[in-house]
Amino acid sequence: MTNASSKRQISLVLGIETSCDETGVALYHCSEGIVAEQLHSQADLHSQYGGVVPELASRDHICRLIPLVRRIMNETGVTQPDAVAYTAGPGLIGALHVGAAVGRSMAFGWGVPAVGIHHLEGHLLAPMLEDNAPDFPFVALLVSGGHTLLIDVIRVGEYTLLGESLDDAAGEAFDKTAKLLGLPYPGGAFLANLARDGRAGQYHFPRPMIDRPGLDFSFSGLKTYALNTLHKLENASYDDQADIARAFEDAVVETLTVKCRRALAQTGRNRLVIAGGVSANQRLREDLTRMANEQSAKVFFPRPAYCTDNGAMIAYAGYRRLAAGESDGLDIRAFPRWPLAQI
Ligand code: KG4
Ligand code: ZN
Repeated sequence: MTNASSKRQISLVLGIETSCDETGVALYHCSEGIVAEQLHSQADLHSQYGGVVPELASRDHICRLIPLVRRIMNETGVTQPDAVAYTAGPGLIGALHVGAAVGRSMAFGWGVPAVGIHHLEGHLLAPMLEDNAPDFPFVALLVSGGHTLLIDVIRVGEYTLLGESLDDAAGEAFDKTAKLLGLPYPGGAFLANLARDGRAGQYHFPRPMIDRPGLDFSFSGLKTYALNTLHKLENASYDDQADIARAFEDAVVETLTVKCRRALAQTGRNRLVIAGGVSANQRLREDLTRMANEQSAKVFFPRPAYCTDNGAMIAYAGYRRLAAGESDGLDIRAFPRWPLAQI
């Protein structure tokens, strides 16, 4: 990323998200906020395979992206934005290349700057789209299908990693356990629904790594624990499955809550931001809110639609980067792996 020598006025940014299985587009205006957005989820396309098929994801993004951009431009009467922001990584390389190639090319055609955005920075900044936006600095818990990170956010672009998952991400653990319970893909929200019918304390799952110092996580053992619990039951009834879902959710939520409390104490921050797909989880929201109140800290979440992947968070992160004078060259950049600390 380069610092553009001549700062041009950027008011309206087109954001494009294609890092995994959602095609998201949005227009962010510096004083009006998100003025238009569209999202197409590929969940139905991939559900028959029990997970995302990268080649199918790329092909679907190719078909969806330009019509979705056209729709938000027509809706708003915008003929061209002042800049384009696209997700440059991390994610599925073919899927990323669709957004990067289309986004970069549209910017070239319009003669406006383009900027490649780190997907996790998009998630991190998503709560800033809400009326009740957090001030910097804050601790962020980023819980998605691919990542579980605790980050000290000093300002846009200045992030210190406090802890991360050593194996499965929290969302991945939700999805794998949901699959064991016969729920559709992606299973996080389905498992959370099933857990509502489960009884507390019927099973007790471990809280991985909470008795060790530090802020790292490990969730892969929980799915094995769920599998072993299921195997011990001859024919698991709906009630048994709901109890297992409840025990699993309790374990993940408590583990995340303990580590967030520890991160607030370690950094001395009094603001906690929760972002990423798993932050849509109602139990997690409730428990983190309770914990934050006890610590005299404030907790901030994006609205549920901005917890999971979307174009709005990319448009907003792009606006922040471009307003700081950053933009990319003409090359089309996409990085399947991209440590947040490197941006
Ligand atoms: O952020 P996201 O849309 O995509 C990634 O960047 O990974 O997160 C998707 C993840 C999936 O694992 C999904 O099952 C999980 O978020 N998820 C949930 C809930 N809603 C989505 N997990 C638990 N409870 C939910 N309500
Ligand atoms: Zn995501």
